[in-house]
Amino acid sequence: MNLYLGDTVPDFTAPSTAGVIHFYDYLGDSWGILFSHPRDFTPVCTTELGEVARLKPEFDRRNTKVVGLSVDPVEEHERWKADIEETQGHALNFPLLGDQDRAVANLYGMIHPNASDTFTVRSVYIIDPAKKLRLTLTYPASVGRNFAEILRVLDALQLTDRYPISTPVNWEEGAEVIVSPGLSDDEAKERFPMGFRTLRPYLRLTPQPDKA
Ligand code: BEZ
Repeated sequence: MNLYLGDTVPDFTAPSTAGVIHFYDYLGDSWGILFSHPRDFTPVCTTELGEVARLKPEFDRRNTKVVGLSVDPVEEHERWKADIEETQGHALNFPLLGDQDRAVANLYGMIHPNASDTFTVRSVYIIDPAKKLRLTLTYPASVGRNFAEILRVLDALQLTDRYPISTPVNWEEGAEVIVSPGLSDDEAKERFPMGFRTLRPYLRLTPQPDKA
């Protein structure tokens, strides 16, 4: 299945290390991150899962539930957990789906047959509280993801949902943001009392509005 930004993501029920997950119910009103791993007992995946466990408080702070997926069975995940904790220093503290029949992987398009017709690639889906797909990332098996970047995008998405702004290249929390070109200067003055600077009529920068 092809999933495009703005689509409603598919619901599913699947076993996990935290019991059976009914995806929509599990997410509730939270944001969600669903991310896939090629398989258990592999080195890059082990480091990634340790890192997501370390960052769990950061996801919690952003009202975001993380769910991992690997096409191996949950019993294998349970055996792998000890390795993750021992080698990465962080115990798995979020559900890891067992997708042995590839039902979820196929539903979300996580198998890219010309990369591997058996294992999932490293997919990331950011899902908003309305269950709309807001970001996808696809990495090959040989390259570990940068979860700091995923937190950065989450911050940007949540901020741009609250204000008529967008975020410039390499934006980080606390840096200037772009005033929506849809706002007139008068409207922008009203919405952004801290003011803005105009580099071009379509490129106006203002301090991050929730840092006033
Ligand atoms: C890894 O996680 O290290 C890995 C998994 C599948 C293929 C290649 C690398």
